[in-house]
Amino acid sequence: MSRIAYVNGQYVAHAQAAVHIEDRGYQFADGVYEVCEIRGGHLVDERRHVERLVRSLGEIRIALPMPLAALKVVLRETIRRNRVRNGFVYLQVTRGVARRDHYFPDPSTPPSLVVTARAVDPAKGEAVAGEGIAVITAPDNRWERVDIKTVGLLPNVLAKQAAKEAGAREAWFVDREGRITEGGSTNAWIVTPEGRLVTRQADNGILRGITRTVMLQVAEQLQLTVEERAFTVAEALAAREAFVTSATNFATPVVRIDGLPIGDGRPGAVARALRENFHSFAEITP
Ligand code: PDD
Repeated sequence: MSRIAYVNGQYVAHAQAAVHIEDRGYQFADGVYEVCEIRGGHLVDERRHVERLVRSLGEIRIALPMPLAALKVVLRETIRRNRVRNGFVYLQVTRGVARRDHYFPDPSTPPSLVVTARAVDPAKGEAVAGEGIAVITAPDNRWERVDIKTVGLLPNVLAKQAAKEAGAREAWFVDREGRITEGGSTNAWIVTPEGRLVTRQADNGILRGITRTVMLQVAEQLQLTVEERAFTVAEALAAREAFVTSATNFATPVVRIDGLPIGDGRPGAVARALRENFHSFAEITP
């Protein structure tokens, strides 16, 4: 079956879907995005993803491309036309098309909106989680507003590629004080030797992951002690467990950091419990 993309008001064949060469997303990475899970044909945590999109747009002063009710229809229609039962919907909004000039274009310039949907085999993610992943550490050389989900992801791309070339799946960014901020496309967590769950506080230094927010609720329900604070690479290496969270990973155990085993070098019980319980806490809307 051929894939369909939504591009600025039209549903078009994915292979032909295109934006103008002077789209500001293309020229300046002047835009934001969201990735939302589709499970059993339904959007997972749509409300929170849309809220974060609205926040990201507000922070960089891009107008909503259409009313939220209409946006939700476009998301559903894109999923329907691609017949995705399990997978992800990707949404990107940029400041629109205008002659290349760093200043904002005329306010009458409509923002660009692109939506795609992609099916994935849930068994693949389960297999990865069952094995656990390796991560490397990399200097956090990103700008100071990574709380905004912008499409400007070059440091993330380079760090993740370095991870791949080192036989790992994710790169954990480390700030100037030697503390882990987050992954290239995931939030970072550890379980201390005393059993405390630690993840960095959601300030401007990380993206406030929707999965992170939901996992904090799962952790509370499981009566885990949670500390939202920065943790060092040394603490991570001495941890009982480590794992990553994102809409595409749920909770996926980390079994090696920079080649060194974490805990007993196998996926841990806390990550497994959080992963298993995630979807009973996430909001699944029709
Ligand atoms: N990435 N941190 C970064 C830098 C991210 O890019 C992401 C998500 C997260 C986790 O956020 P959430 O739980 O809302 O997915 C944290 C998406 C999945 C991506 O870029 O593909």
